[in-house]
Amino acid sequence: MNSISTKDEIKTLNDLCFQIPKSELHVHLEGTLDPEMIFKIAERNNAIENLPSNFKSLESIKKSYNYKNLEEFLEIYYLASKVLLKEEDFSEIVMNYFKKVLNHGVKYAEMFFDPQSHTRRGIKLETIIKGLLIGLKISEERYGIKGNLILCFLRDLSEEDAIKTFQNFLELKELKIVEDSLLEKIIGVGLDSSEIGNPPDKFKNVFKLAKEKGFKLCCHCHDEGSLENIRKSVEELNVDRIDHGIDIYLDENLLNKCVDKRIPYTFCPLSTKKVQRTPDLKVYNLDGLLEKDLLVTVNSDDPAFF
Ligand code: ADE
Ligand code: ZN
Repeated sequence: MNSISTKDEIKTLNDLCFQIPKSELHVHLEGTLDPEMIFKIAERNNAIENLPSNFKSLESIKKSYNYKNLEEFLEIYYLASKVLLKEEDFSEIVMNYFKKVLNHGVKYAEMFFDPQSHTRRGIKLETIIKGLLIGLKISEERYGIKGNLILCFLRDLSEEDAIKTFQNFLELKELKIVEDSLLEKIIGVGLDSSEIGNPPDKFKNVFKLAKEKGFKLCCHCHDEGSLENIRKSVEELNVDRIDHGIDIYLDENLLNKCVDKRIPYTFCPLSTKKVQRTPDLKVYNLDGLLEKDLLVTVNSDDPAFF
């Protein structure tokens, strides 16, 4: 608590909110790519001319950060992440995020990354992982914030592709591409991207393998009809955590099961609002869920985009 200033210095609720020590458990590193960073990295890589037509100026990028639903958001999100090419680009997204959240009171962060969105563009898994872990090491030392990473599979790709990616990652671990203590910072696997038509049970085998290898498991459940996906994640994948899970208020039995099993939920209010699952976040009854002892946390998801 020593980072909290004296009462006299805390002038407004806003100040207080910034200063309260926080854990951020749900943030996508690629989702921290703001328009300024996109330009900076593209310039460094002499790749300005490769940017898509709606990314040609800061203003046009900002204008395109506007979506009616998850699919529209994902299209822009993957376009933006194409700017990441080299190890130092991946290091920079971690360092930039830590620099920003230092002033938001963040003390600990669990950060997702989407390796397949880069390997499918020809970037080596080693470049991605080395870049992120070196960036994390520098950031922890520089900003005094602790962090861990979660490797996310893209649910709109096949399970075979997810298994291949996970096995490549295990091979890189064996090769000790960086020191062991850094490799241990990839603590879990998750499931993100386009949810409709891609239920969690599609990834049963790769999640089982990851559990056997000692990784924590989590799964995004937040698009239309996601209650069934929460149920499958809990009952069939045995996840340690649900990401979003906003529809849990609809099923009292499942909710009680998650309370008993102490399965946490990482709510992300701004992305939920911006991809227009609802105009009114009160529907999800966060207070009511906390009163029932569900472990609910509040997170930023893709802060540059929301
Ligand atoms: N990938 C990055 N952000 C995401 C989100 N909010 N939902 C699903 N996939 C994502
Ligand atoms: Zn997310």
